[in-house]
Amino acid sequence: MARTLARKLFVKSYGCQMNVYDSARMADVLAPHGYERVDHAEDADLLILNTCHIREKAAEKVYSELGRLRRLKAKDGAGGAMIAVAGCVAQAESEELVRRAPHVDIVVGPQTYHRLPELIARATGPERHAVDTEFPVEPKFDHLPGEAEPRGPTAFVTVQEGCDKFCAFCVVPYTRGSEYSRPAADVIAETRRLVAAGAREITLLGQNVNAYHGAALGGRGEWRLGRLIRELAEIDRLERIRYTTSHPRDMDADLAAAHGEVPQLMPFLHLPVQSGSDRVLAKMNRGHRVAEYLDIVEGLRRARGDIALSSDFIVGHPGETDDDFYQTLELARTVGFAQAYSFKYSRRPGTPASVQTEQVPETVKSERLAELQSLLAAQQLSFNRRFEGDAVTVLFDRRGTGSDQIAGRSPHMQAVHVDCADAGEAARGMGAIADVFIAEAHANSLAGRLAAAMPGSGTHSA
Ligand code: SAH
Ligand code: SF4
Ligand code: F3S
Repeated sequence: MARTLARKLFVKSYGCQMNVYDSARMADVLAPHGYERVDHAEDADLLILNTCHIREKAAEKVYSELGRLRRLKAKDGAGGAMIAVAGCVAQAESEELVRRAPHVDIVVGPQTYHRLPELIARATGPERHAVDTEFPVEPKFDHLPGEAEPRGPTAFVTVQEGCDKFCAFCVVPYTRGSEYSRPAADVIAETRRLVAAGAREITLLGQNVNAYHGAALGGRGEWRLGRLIRELAEIDRLERIRYTTSHPRDMDADLAAAHGEVPQLMPFLHLPVQSGSDRVLAKMNRGHRVAEYLDIVEGLRRARGDIALSSDFIVGHPGETDDDFYQTLELARTVGFAQAYSFKYSRRPGTPASVQTEQVPETVKSERLAELQSLLAAQQLSFNRRFEGDAVTVLFDRRGTGSDQIAGRSPHMQAVHVDCADAGEAARGMGAIADVFIAEAHANSLAGRLAAAMPGSGTHSA
């Protein structure tokens, strides 16, 4: 078969890890059509912005990026690069995107990017634009080809997508559609391929990943996430398993138990709580109370004593009083988080919270955010400091700033930086799992030295 002319693809991901996964899958879809991924927008024949709609600023960033790209395109003239907008802003804005930014050639939602080759053909034809933001009956997963290139030592696998929970503040149910779980057989096959290509750690992804209820292996009945994880743990050379993002309502006993029973399941869980006030949780339509969250945390700690928790918080949700906010601080003090993300409530068009009358003033939101973030930062630093002087096991997946530096993650998701003996040792370290003596804990990372030289060198560490 004649090789198609090589074309350059640049994909930029915003937002959550599922977008990172989808970006890699888009590259897989386009690879058989001759597209190779490049690192700079300027070099590309096709640019895809894989966008996020979760907060106001995220969407605005996309429009300003599109503004910058227009200048780039104009310089190139009519035959310049094609611009596609994918992801959640594409889904939410649809045709509006082409109206507001007419130099956009393609708009494609998160559930239809397997159709990119057809959309490119349409946009190069007389129609000039192609917009596809359908929610197809057949899931895109049935149409995606295998991975075009290895993903590296750590890889994502989407197992569940969409959301039926309709939290009052959130756009995701509208941008990603209703909940869907991939059959266990598909997830296992994809994980096996990734591990065969060098992945040592897999993170199972879903907007509500623990709501997973995919067709069981062998086709009879359904598996929940705990069962799926136990099966994946049987795969040789898969050393680490993680999953994100979980919802407290879907945390079942078997999944909590798996934390105690499956050694590959890492002792770290991102479990967003959003608020520590029952009143606000009800306004948010989260479907659980503070006491239930604390019970789940206790259950997880019973299953695995060293489990570390992370969370998401929203401050200034409509109707949040000072007292509600103090309860959020109280919950954070009670749990003690290893890390956390916190956001000012952002009004999203079309969501129930956006039309609630008791909107919190911006200044109050800012004050609350600063107070919560200083508490969470202090908790993170004190968590990190516990590891000073200890050895932690690190999976190295990134180069550091210098040629002899490498970086990776501890079991508790901390970033760990290491200075190797030389650039050769750093290169051999990529993808390795090794013990590191932690010398220094910082706010967002740990630094240390290798407990033993990376195998393959003639040298020994001092
Ligand atoms: N499915 C996950 C969250 C997905 S969105 C869950 O249920 O927890 C990621 C995070 O963005 C949320 O946890 C929330 O803290 C934040 N977020 C979502 N909508 C927001 C909004 N309108 N304003 C501010 N933060 C928001
Ligand atoms: Fe959004 Fe709530 Fe669904 Fe999470 S559970 S994606 S916050 S609607
Ligand atoms: Fe953003 Fe969509 Fe993910 S809104 S957080 S990219 S699901």
